[in-house]
Order: sequence, then structure tokens, then C-alpha cells
Amino acid sequence: MQFLKLLPVFLLLLFFDQNTLAAEFEYENCMENNPPEDEDFDFIVVGAGATGAVVANRLSESGNYSVLLLEAGGPPHWSTEIPRRAEETCDQSQWDWNFLSTPQSKAGFGFPNNRIKLYRGKMLGGSSSHNGMYYIRGNSRDYDKWAELVQDDRWNFTNVLPYLKKIETYYGSYYTNSDYRGGTGPLQITEQNFRPLNDEWLAAGAEFGFPINQDQNADQVASFFPSQVNIDQQGRRSSAYEGYLAPARDRTNLKILCNAYVTKVNFADGEDKRVEGVTFIRHWSEVTIKARKEVILSAGAYQTPQLLMLSGIGDATHLREVGITPRIDIPAVGRGLQDHPGVLFGPFILNTRAAIFSTKGDPTWPNALYQLLPSFRPNWPDYDLDEPAALIPYSVTLVINHGLPKSEGVIRLASSNPVNPPEIDVNYFDVDEDLTDMVDMFKLAVTLLEESASFARFGTRLWGGKMGQCAMFEDRSDEYFRCYLRHYARTGHHPSCTARMGKAGDVQNSVVDTNLKVHGVLGLRIADASVFPTITNANIHAPCFMIGEMVADFVLKEWQEGTTPPTDQTTPTIATTLAAHGKSNSLAGFPIVGAALVYFPFLLQVF
Ligand SMILES: Cc1cc2nc3c(=O)[nH]c(=O)nc-3n(C[C@H](O)[C@H](O)[C@H](O)COP(=O)(O)OP(=O)(O)OC[C@H]3O[C@@H](n4cnc5c(N)ncnc54)[C@H](O)[C@@H]3O)c2cc1C
Ligand SMILES: *[C@@H]1O[C@H](CO)[C@@H](O)[C@H](O)[C@H]1NC(C)=O
Ligand SMILES: *[C@@H]1O[C@H](CO)[C@@H](O)[C@H](O)[C@H]1NC(C)=O
Repeated sequence: MQFLKLLPVFLLLLFFDQNTLAAEFEYENCMENNPPEDEDFDFIVVGAGATGAVVANRLSESGNYSVLLLEAGGPPHWSTEIPRRAEETCDQSQWDWNFLSTPQSKAGFGFPNNRIKLYRGKMLGGSSSHNGMYYIRGNSRDYDKWAELVQDDRWNFTNVLPYLKKIETYYGSYYTNSDYRGGTGPLQITEQNFRPLNDEWLAAGAEFGFPINQDQNADQVASFFPSQVNIDQQGRRSSAYEGYLAPARDRTNLKILCNAYVTKVNFADGEDKRVEGVTFIRHWSEVTIKARKEVILSAGAYQTPQLLMLSGIGDATHLREVGITPRIDIPAVGRGLQDHPGVLFGPFILNTRAAIFSTKGDPTWPNALYQLLPSFRPNWPDYDLDEPAALIPYSVTLVINHGLPKSEGVIRLASSNPVNPPEIDVNYFDVDEDLTDMVDMFKLAVTLLEESASFARFGTRLWGGKMGQCAMFEDRSDEYFRCYLRHYARTGHHPSCTARMGKAGDVQNSVVDTNLKVHGVLGLRIADASVFPTITNANIHAPCFMIGEMVADFVLKEWQEGTTPPTDQTTPTIATTLAAHGKSNSLAGFPIVGAALVYFPFLLQVF
């Protein structure tokens, strides 16, 4: 009878909860009618992801300018706020683009037709709304190399650091580190608070001579540390949406339209270089809207190059092949795609409940990412393999990503139809050294897990079985590991560099200049992972936010100073310039033999 007394309370709670949830998660305004075609805006931002959300927020902050933010997806699904639930919005859902790579010849053998699944958020917040939330800035040398490649010191670590600080309110244990950490930004960063085996992990690192408990988001060195994550103090995802859009969405000078699929940028009548707006499909109609000042593309590393090409900006020969009249010939559009190929390695069997990871070389510029995962997930969906591990009581599996790979892929158009997905050739392991490096990373992981005293006491050992497709090779041999990688490596979810920043006018190697303006075009910038001159050595969420903050600053300063853009644009010609990016990973003086960068796991699977 106690139960009956409490029933109304339960019902009330249920009712209450639903209402708060509704208010919290449903943002219906972005579904409103299409704006009239004669309504124009100062700025149009395409894509509300990690970078576009920042740009839209900052450009509308002063109230001086009107901003239109166009997003193909809808509001984020409620589950995206809950750590580890967001996976539900990755696979075959309406919150993801569900891309597949082109059939691969050197990787992806374990996927149907050698096509690797490529997740991408399609909602306010973009991939920031369903990513893994590991928050890591990368190495200072990554940015110093950017500055060297693009010959502009504004992009070196010293100069991007204030923006990296501006992004965050940091709550973790290094909070006194104010040279590096921010205290007032929109994104909330902390250390994971559920950290099984943290002590063993750090002790194992120490046994192998690594520094421990270093702040990975200060001056990064190879070390062992608890992961930092973008999770707020209430345990919810802190994302581009929560941090930058939710607080700005009621501004009268910011209009956010969901379900707006942009199909091209438009050039001004009778001018072949000045962009004056965009066309998008929404509510079953095609809408064209003008920007008085600039259009900023933030559609992400797969779709920004697609949009450029659909607008006639790209490799003229390729555009003609698919029936698009080239307008601005920039061969670099879509080229130089980089990602961190990653793989689940293991399982390592433990006699008790425990977790782990490791790698090689230059301790000041780690090239390997290790994350501890629970055992094989029951729904490890993309791989053509059985799940013996699911039967094993205690085990951990590592995620190992190559942090500084050399292989490069390419984005091309499948056709001139804007609703067709782009052709994404990820081209993992094209450079054999990437594969060799990862074999070494496997071996180091085995050494660390099997030979450290801290893990030996759990009897930790690599599972003795073999993956079926590689059963002909000797267990633990290089051949076996290479075969394993070619079958099971997949995306680390960090596509970048497909519309690279470079020296003004260098259309062979770059698409935008160091102000992120598209070469030879007026009124068009790019701000997202596409503009990375080269991939950073860790998860790339943080640099995406940083790029958003930087470009907003550039734009505001320029328009405030009253300059009409731009002065440094040279008309693209097919110049014979040095292939600087082709050598991007081997600049003299920057040895990139590996080293270990360690992640701590989210969860340990409890059976
Ligand atoms: C599953 C997954 C896990 C990840 N885990 C981590 C992690 O743990 N840590 C980390 O640092 N990084 C992680 N990342 C990477 C990180 O989230 C992305 O690199 C980052 O969000 C990229 O930012 P962006 O602005 O370039 O693009 P996105 O955030 O992808 O935003 C692009 C936006 O543009 C929209 N768009 C695209 N085309 C159009 C169009 N034609 N018209 C209108 N809108 C369009 C998209 O819908 C999307 O909202 C992960 C990514 C994924 C997918
Ligand atoms: C907005 O306009 C005011 C008044 O002209 C000016 O003082 C301020 O600097 C402007 N802010 C931005 C960000 O342009
Ligand atoms: C970064 O640029 C600044 C100039 O803006 C310079 O003083 C500094 O030395 C540069 N840092 C590196 C590592 O090159």
C-alpha cells in the first residue's frame, strides 16, 4: 500500500520530467517557415557543427550583424546529451549522414565491399553532438608546423593558445595551470570521473619510464594521464550545440534554420569572382538567399569540398567530367584528405576486472593514440567477424589510432546532383609506413599489457585466438598484424585537410589563404576541419572550435575596420608550385617516430 501512496508522486515526476525534457531538447524554432527570398543577411554560415556553431555565435554576439545559420539536420536527439548513449545516433539514423567510403584496395577488407562506414553528425552541433567527447588539443608542434606550412605565425601554437583557452571552462585537476587553461569559455572540460584501474594504468606507464599525470592539454608530451572530456558538471555532453548555439539561439539577429540542405554558393550576376549567397532545399522548395558581406562554409571535411565543387570551385578537369562548368580552378579542392585510421586491438584477457593500452619514439611529439575500451561491444556492427570475446568474462580492448599518418585520400563528386553523397576515398594504408607503424603500436601494446608488473597481477594476456580471415598467418607475427589491420582498421572519425589553408594563391596545394578566404573568390570563407594544413596528432574537436573562434575574429576585425574583402586574392592559375603538403609529415627537423599517448577508458564492461 506504500506503493499506492507514492503513485501520484511517480506520475507527477513522470509528467514533470517529460516537460523539462521537452523544453530542454526540442528546439522547434529552427523548423519555422522559409525566409522570403528578399530577406538578406550580413553573413550566412553553412553547417551548424563544431566550427559553424562557434562562427554563428561569435558573429551574432555584438548584435551589429545579422546572421543566417543553415543546418541540414534537425535539433539533436535527446540521447546526445548522455555520455555513451549518443552512439545510437550514429548508425543508420536520421542524425547521421551514413556515408560509406569508396571500395578500398589496401584497407577495409573486413567491411562489406571493402567500404568503410564513415559517421558524421547531421544535426545542430554536427559531429560535436554525437562524438566520443575525448578532448585533446594536439601537440604544440602540430600548430607550429601549420604556421610554417602556411607561412603565417598567427597559426603557431603560441598564437592559437589564447583561442584554445577562450573555448573552455576547465574544471579538472590542472585548473591552476592558467598559462594553458581557460576558465570562462562556453565548452566545459573536465576529467572523466569514472576511471576504473586508473592507478594501475598510471603505474604501468611509470614502469616504462613515461611521465604520468601530465596535462595533455598543456605542452603535450608522451605520457600517461586520465582522459579529459567535454562533459559538464551535471554529467551531460558539453557540445557545440550546448555551448555555442543554445545560449545564442534566441538572439534576434541570428536565424537558425534546420533541415536546410545547401546545394551551392551563388556568384553575383555578371561577376565571376564574388559570392553573394547560397541556394538550399528546405520544406520541399528551393530557396536562394543573399549575404551582404560573406558566406562561411562549415559543412565539415567531407561536404565542404562537395559544396565547393557543386558551385564550380575545384579541379576543372574533374568538374567537367561530372558535367559542372568550372568557375574557379582550384585543383586542391577535396585532395589531401587525412584521418587517423584506428582499430580495436585485443581483447586482452584479465583474471579480474581491469583495463589498459601504449607505443614508440620521440617523446615530445607522440604519434599514437591508445584508448581502453570495454571488451568487444556486442554490436560491433561494421566488421565481418564473430565475437568470441563477448563470451569472455573480463577483458579489455584497445582503440589504437595512428596519430600522424602519411596516407592521403580524396573527395570527389559522384555526379552533379547535389543530393548524391560525395565519393570519399579514405585511402588508408596507401603509404605502407602507416601500416608498419601500427604493427609497432600493436607490439608495444602487448608489451605494456603483458609485461608491466601493474597488469601482470591481473594475468593480463592477449587473446590466444585469431581473426578468421588472417588465420593463415602465425599468431602475433607482423604478417598477422598487417592482415588484421587491413581488415579491421576503420575511421578514427577525424577527416580533415580537404580544403587546406596555404599561401595566398597556391591553388595546387591549398584552397584557402591564412584568413580562410577561398583563393580567387570574394566573400567566401571556409571554417571547419577541411582547412587543417595537416592533421593534428590527436582527436580534432578542439582545433575545430579554435578555427571557429579565430575566423570569427578575423571576420569581425576586417568588417569593423571597414575593409572590403579582400586584398590578397590572386586569381588562381595552374601554377607549378612546390608540393609542400605532399611532404607535410616529413619536414626537416621534425622527426616523427612514435611515442605513446594514452587514453583512459570510458567504461569497463561488467559481465
Ligand atoms: C562518431 C564520432 C566520434 C568522434 N569522437 C571524437 C572525440 O572523442 N574527440 C574529438 O576530439 N573528436 C571526435 N570526433 C571528431 C569531431 O567531432 C569532428 O572532427 C568535428 O565535429 C568536426 O567539426 P566540423 O565543424 O568540421 O564538422 P561537423 O561537426 O561534422 O559539422 C558539419 C555540419 O555541417 C552540416 N552540413 C553538411 N553539409 C551540409 C549542407 N550541404 N547543408 C547544410 N548543412 C550541412 C552537417 O549536418 C553538420 O552539422 C568524432 C566524430 C565522430 C563522427
Ligand atoms: C558594434 O558596433 C558598435 C557601435 O558602432 C561598436 O562600438 C562595436 O565595436 C561593434 N562591435 C563589433 C564586434 O563589430
Ligand atoms: C609564434 O609566433 C610569434 C610571433 O607572433 C613568435 O614570437 C613565436 O616565436 C612563434 N613561435 C614559434 C614556436 O615559432
